Amino acid sequence: MPFYHKLGNIPHKRHIQFRKSDGSLYYEQLFGTIGFDGMSTNSYHEQRPTQVKEIKKQYSVAPKIAKTNNIQSYRLKGFQVKPENDYLESRKTVLINSDCAIILAAPKQSTNDYFYKNTDADELIFIHKGSGKLRTHLGNLDFKYGDYLLVPRGIIYKIDFDSKDNRLFIVESRRPIYTPKRYRNWFGQLLEHSPFCERDIRRPYELETNNESGDFLIKVKKQDDIIEMVYASHPFDVVGYDGYNYPYAFSIHDFEPITGRIHQPPPVHQTFETDAFVVCSFVPRLYDYHPQSIPAPYNHSNIDSDEVLYYVDGDFMSRNDVAAGHISLHPAGIPHGPHPGATERSIGKTKTDELAVMVDTFKPLKVTEEAMKIADDSYHKSWLE
Ligand SMILES: [Fe+2]
Repeated sequence: MPFYHKLGNIPHKRHIQFRKSDGSLYYEQLFGTIGFDGMSTNSYHEQRPTQVKEIKKQYSVAPKIAKTNNIQSYRLKGFQVKPENDYLESRKTVLINSDCAIILAAPKQSTNDYFYKNTDADELIFIHKGSGKLRTHLGNLDFKYGDYLLVPRGIIYKIDFDSKDNRLFIVESRRPIYTPKRYRNWFGQLLEHSPFCERDIRRPYELETNNESGDFLIKVKKQDDIIEMVYASHPFDVVGYDGYNYPYAFSIHDFEPITGRIHQPPPVHQTFETDAFVVCSFVPRLYDYHPQSIPAPYNHSNIDSDEVLYYVDGDFMSRNDVAAGHISLHPAGIPHGPHPGATERSIGKTKTDELAVMVDTFKPLKVTEEAMKIADDSYHKSWLE
């Protein structure tokens, strides 16, 4: 996150001696991104973070592709994804391109016996159902319904759930995920017209420092493989850190909608950006207030974007027969728009309680076999009258 954060104990200058009470040195680690040009964090460890003991299994988790060059609109019934005990095994990639993967997951159990690290991608985890604690080597974050958890690539984490009933919508991004640049000034501060500000962004507040030796399994994701690596020291052994690269949480309920007299375009809902896709939050808001306004969107061709909408809660005004947990995919190359009757239905309405997350990708998405298991194959004909 592009503002400075400090947790725990650190020396008064970087790259100088920082000693434990017994006189030995802490182990400093600069955790950088984009070479040395991106955001970085400087952390201090009880033990060397490099003590690989064993490299065990390596196996592919690359999704199986059902359709590569897709022009069919789909509706995916996300809640039909079956709950599974293990967090990583529960993650089902439904749509993917070379920049990002869209994943649905219903994990029943916390990650008890391993740590996880995604070296390829930032992970944006939207909590549709469930609550708990994200535990990372840079501190912990509590989460609940409506939270986005942003885990930058390389952060070692575990996830603890309060119950077995969890539903997650995850975007893995091979490009760094930032807040929109147009909402930040040249120092990175969020501007007055931004729909959220620094106060809405929750930073890690609790640092676990375990100075333990033993066998610690980290499941490392790299190039669509999981590699099981055993380290000789506990991955959560940081006594302090500072910098800009750390996980954070933002609640969709803290997104302040931007409204107008006539229909506002999707960019007003934008919450995150990369150079390969955007993420938007559709939240409860007042409708357009021109006396002749039409609150429902017009038909539109994002000729060069695939549009993915994940329906979270409330009535989604432009769609018929859409429920919580559904995904609609409207691919690039063809127009899409309100369902028959939705435009007329919207006239005169003053507000909406819809809640949805949208991902617009600039490259086409491939449809996976996991998606086909939960796909409504007639959705693309649902505009016929
Ligand atoms: Fe659209």
